[in-house]
Amino acid sequence: MKQLKLFLLLCCMMPIAWAAPEQTANSADATPAVAAAPATTPAPAATSPTPAATPATTPAPAAASPTPAATPATTPAPAAASPAPAATPATTPTPAAKSTSSAAATPTPTATPTSATEPLLPGDAERGLAKSSTCVACHGTDGNSIIPDYPKIAGQNESYIIESLHEFKEGPGGERDNPIMFGMVANLSEQDMLDLASYYASQKVTLGEVDPALVELGQSIYRGGNIEAGVPACIACHGPRGEGNTLARFPALSGQNAAYVEAQLHAFRSGTRKGGVNDMMTQVVARMSEDEIKAVASYVSGLH
Ligand code: HEC
Ligand code: HEC
Repeated sequence: MKQLKLFLLLCCMMPIAWAAPEQTANSADATPAVAAAPATTPAPAATSPTPAATPATTPAPAAASPTPAATPATTPAPAAASPAPAATPATTPTPAAKSTSSAAATPTPTATPTSATEPLLPGDAERGLAKSSTCVACHGTDGNSIIPDYPKIAGQNESYIIESLHEFKEGPGGERDNPIMFGMVANLSEQDMLDLASYYASQKVTLGEVDPALVELGQSIYRGGNIEAGVPACIACHGPRGEGNTLARFPALSGQNAAYVEAQLHAFRSGTRKGGVNDMMTQVVARMSEDEIKAVASYVSGLH
């Protein structure tokens, strides 16, 4: 009986295993199917194979309005982690009064007082702006970094920003071991991170200039991957306009600095940056050529 159950369980899990690069001929369907499900929850890769369609099919709902989708998805996780955000609520009675009001409206910050720990307020773009002065030197006044090696964070998905800040906080040996950002996040509270994420997500990314010589290859990799080599199409997870996917926490690539994108792809390849849930990006770059990396990096800098 026990063995039968185990067998059934294994059968259920089989199709969910990471689609090997060889299988990516139909990658636009195949890849996100695996990816999307676990991305929303940390561990259980086996639980739900279903939300497959989301990244590939939804044209842009996430990008069009970063706020409503992002908030419910992100709020619960950090809330559990932070022990003492008690001081912050006093400063702002209602975070509803500005542009991202939909975000404020949804989760009703005051409605969860029953939990033992004080709840965090939803991220607030105005508070985020006030806290962003230390970020300006590198990421620009509105998150549009003009230093090619540094990422633009304007218009980035809120959930992904929060996740990235947590990953930097892990420090050496963590998901994103970066000495610069490790120093920057050291003094940020959970509430600070929510507010900063809300602010930067509400900004508009500026587009870069795509190298005309690289457009064709870049676009073909982005949209179709390289079937022979086993490179999946980026569009499957990062969206037709490079908007990413808020719920799955796939980052937006639209307008991103080409030099930064190139460097990150190399970092995924060398392992200095972990590939995210199921090591997705490690798999993606494993079979990319240098030319493809360069071309797709240039292409996304102008994608919108
Ligand atoms: C001294 C320069 C510097 C400052 C100041 C700085 N950053 Fe960064 N930031 C970087 C660099 C460099 C990276 C890329 C790290 C890497 O390669 O992984 C980065 C990456 C990030 C990312 C990840 C972006 C992505 O697309 O994955 C976020 C989010 C971020 N920074 C937010 C902030 C915030 C918020 C502040 C202010 C509290 C800040 N940074 C201050 C240099 C800086
Ligand atoms: C199966 C889904 C999936 C596919 C396909 C995919 N990506 Fe990603 N990508 C991700 C995830 C998830 C992350 C975030 C990884 C992390 O948590 O650090 C990411 C991160 C990135 C980043 C880092 C962004 C930043 O702001 O730091 C770049 C650049 C990137 N992908 C480029 C690409 C390119 C180019 C392709 C196509 C060749 C591609 N991706 C295909 C899921 C995917």
